[in-house]
Amino acid sequence: MKSIVVANWKMNPASFREAKKLFDAERKAAEKARGVSVVVAPPAIFLRELSSLYRGSKIAFSAQNAHFDVDGAHTGEISLLQVKDARAKFVLVGHAERRAEGETDDDTRKKVAAALSLKLAPILCVGEARRTDEGEQFEAVREQLRAGLADVAASALSRVLLVYEPLWTIGKEETMDPHEMHQMAIFMRKCVVESHGEAGLRHAKAGSGLAQAGRNMKILYGGSIEERNAAAMLRDGDIHGFLVGRASANAIEFAKLLRAIEIA
Ligand code: PGA
Repeated sequence: MKSIVVANWKMNPASFREAKKLFDAERKAAEKARGVSVVVAPPAIFLRELSSLYRGSKIAFSAQNAHFDVDGAHTGEISLLQVKDARAKFVLVGHAERRAEGETDDDTRKKVAAALSLKLAPILCVGEARRTDEGEQFEAVREQLRAGLADVAASALSRVLLVYEPLWTIGKEETMDPHEMHQMAIFMRKCVVESHGEAGLRHAKAGSGLAQAGRNMKILYGGSIEERNAAAMLRDGDIHGFLVGRASANAIEFAKLLRAIEIA
């Protein structure tokens, strides 16, 4: 199955000239990588120019954030309509760094619903701030999923990409254990089936069990992914791909990462 890599450049690079250079290098790497689709999420100020220069089909564009209102008095924000007009197909919702800046569960609910109504695909990020032996992480993820997907019809679920990105692995030296990711992926699918039923999940076979029914819900992992840990995570983590921060803001690292996970 094709994997998906979302390149979250965050607030990098400093100039459009550098952004164009980075994009050109990542485009070349993406075109070579078999079995991998790439979504580039540049800073909003570079989005339109990069997307209008690109003619291929291997890369899609995403905004890193957008407001749920269509217009109005929101100084400093961009709207989903503007994102769409800039030829993005995706929008990140609820990234841990946005949540740390005050984005609430209710905001994620509104953003996911507004994106879907405009035929943009939301990339909903969930993940706990800390893990405890009592399993606090599961409750935190269940709640973020419940809120973020609350206004999504079961029939629209397949248009949402989920990312599990625990705060304690973002921007760190080491990533998480792929087997723990696997466990979380099963749990996330179970949560979605509990809230939306089996019918909304693509190819769900009646009576095939909760975790099985949710298997086709696309789940990505994010947090300190790079060349050396990506293949094991893709193999054992029960995921469809990655949301990549630092390694996506560096063309050489990004090309190595794509090579490490392409289908041989
Ligand atoms: P990182 O960031 O790959 O630098 O850990 C991931 C993210 O926050 O998207």
